[in-house]
Amino acid sequence: MRRSLVVGNWKMNGTLASAELLVKGIIAGLGENIADIAVCVPYVYLPKVSELVKNTALALGAQNVADKSSGAYTGEISAAMLSEFSCKYALVGHSERRSYYGDTDESVAARFCQAQEQNITPILCVGETLEQREQDQTFAVINAQLDAVINLAGIAAFDAAVIAYEPVWAIGTGKTATDEQAQEVHRYIRQYIAAKDQAIADKIQILYGGSAKPDNAKGLFAMPDIDGGLIGGASLDAESFLKIYHSI
Ligand code: PGA
Repeated sequence: MRRSLVVGNWKMNGTLASAELLVKGIIAGLGENIADIAVCVPYVYLPKVSELVKNTALALGAQNVADKSSGAYTGEISAAMLSEFSCKYALVGHSERRSYYGDTDESVAARFCQAQEQNITPILCVGETLEQREQDQTFAVINAQLDAVINLAGIAAFDAAVIAYEPVWAIGTGKTATDEQAQEVHRYIRQYIAAKDQAIADKIQILYGGSAKPDNAKGLFAMPDIDGGLIGGASLDAESFLKIYHSI
């Protein structure tokens, strides 16, 4: 049985004070250790949040990581810097990074490798736009996004990685994929990996993201190839994030 994972992606929200309240609220409500749980916080809140989560079941993640290890890359944050704050995870290839900031399949693959070099688990985000779905390109887009990483890192690298399927049309729009729509793509991703390495495919956590909420999480998480969620808006409130976690 794969262990489930629920990850909050705060994006560019909150203040230092609200971050502290949110993390304390989540920790207070964790209860039984039923699954893995993490929050991906803005970089500048990592020092504070890493203190707060110490010795708790709540893990820490970053929302991106540089594609280089160090040097003259103004504004970037390296994997080694993230590991100084006990980051367990780093998102790579989030659709907002791909569409607003020009992160390409190749740079995402480089970020994935940089994270792993510091023993940070990359959470590789993949997913199609509405236009791509309507043109039946969903699987082709996902192939290309996965292949970029497989070509650079090799399939064995997925032994220490997480994949998040996030249909772009469902992110922040309130339009969740149906349980069956999500399951169809999750199964496709797992089979794609299985064709190269069955053991890794059986083991890898594949998360769903895109308007996941307390009222739809249970149905999504009940699907055989959905191993948890990457939660944006609903992770900004401790109660709703915990409700999603407890839907596992
Ligand atoms: P959302 O965001 O839950 O607000 O749709 C998910 C994500 O972008 O990771």
